[in-house]
Amino acid sequence: MANLESLTPKLSWLKSEDVRPFLLIRKDSRLKKPGQYFDLNEFSKEPLFMDPLRMGDVYFSNALLNMESRAFQNSDMPMPRWVFFDCAVMPGFISGFAIRTKMLPQSIVQLIGYENLIGDWTPVSMFIVIPTMVQGEWVAHNLSSINSLIPEDDRLYGLGFLSKAFGLAYANIQVCCGMTQWGSPALRLHSHYGEIEVVTAYTPGHTYASTLTYRLQVNTKQWSRFFTKSSSEEFANRFDPAGFSIDPTSERSQIAFQEKLEKKFGPFYLRASEIRSQPLNKPLTVYKKKQEGNIT
Ligand SMILES: CC(C)(COP(=O)(O)OP(=O)(O)OC[C@H]1O[C@@H](n2cnc3c(N)ncnc32)[C@H](O)[C@@H]1OP(=O)(O)O)[C@@H](O)C(=O)NCCC(=O)NCCS
Repeated sequence: MANLESLTPKLSWLKSEDVRPFLLIRKDSRLKKPGQYFDLNEFSKEPLFMDPLRMGDVYFSNALLNMESRAFQNSDMPMPRWVFFDCAVMPGFISGFAIRTKMLPQSIVQLIGYENLIGDWTPVSMFIVIPTMVQGEWVAHNLSSINSLIPEDDRLYGLGFLSKAFGLAYANIQVCCGMTQWGSPALRLHSHYGEIEVVTAYTPGHTYASTLTYRLQVNTKQWSRFFTKSSSEEFANRFDPAGFSIDPTSERSQIAFQEKLEKKFGPFYLRASEIRSQPLNKPLTVYKKKQEGNIT
């Protein structure tokens, strides 16, 4: 990706001395060779390392859970504390950005509560990623940012997107599954990390059956499109419409899509530029890979 800050002036915050990336990661889990597919210097600063096993660092986990429970309040999916520990920081790790506590805007101080501001740095976003039993495949377990909770003027544009990008880049992740609900704004972010395949279109095993499970073939060269909003010629060259669409508001449409997946008519894909450019409740074209030989 081109130098991040050069993509849009809205990313000038990356240069600020008062914002830096963080990793909440067990010492044993730290990568020996991070950033093999994406230069971590793009994130401007040395990451702040926090240890989830240290009592002295627990304030950082508290701050993350405080922010996360507010971000997920509307969808009724705040993460229980034990899930955070047992299912996130033990097997995986957390990436995100933190703001120098004394420089936090008033809107964030009020939201978090002055009494909860402990430590020099306060986390304002998080991405949790966990390795799976499938060789080389990870699963994204949580993405949240404070942006949705504060006035526009105080937001750091791209905070959610770059929190996930930083985690994927740190751990050299090339294949990453994830779950999100149809119609969620988060799908706009998830679809911009690389080719996005639909693994389940209707998921009754989840609390919310209208959950989409996806698999990303991470392609760091495509990340800049999130900021430039350009559509990928490579996509048009490699994929054709599969002949049906998915209506994110219709359970019937989700089930019909899931039946096609279970009958092994796939694999099926979505197009990032379409997800980004149209209203979240509009039907999305479903795509299939072109046959080898048909690629122009
Ligand atoms: C979804 C979430 C992580 C996005 O993070 P963010 O920091 O707000 O988003 P970013 O600044 O990285 O990206 C902004 C882009 O996201 C999309 N977006 C973010 N919030 C949106 C919303 N409410 N409606 C529509 N699009 C939205 C837009 O495309 C926007 O860019 P654009 O306006 O230039 O098109 C954040 O809103 C959040 O924490 N939501 C609550 C928790 C949640 O639903 N998490 C996702 C679980 S899968």
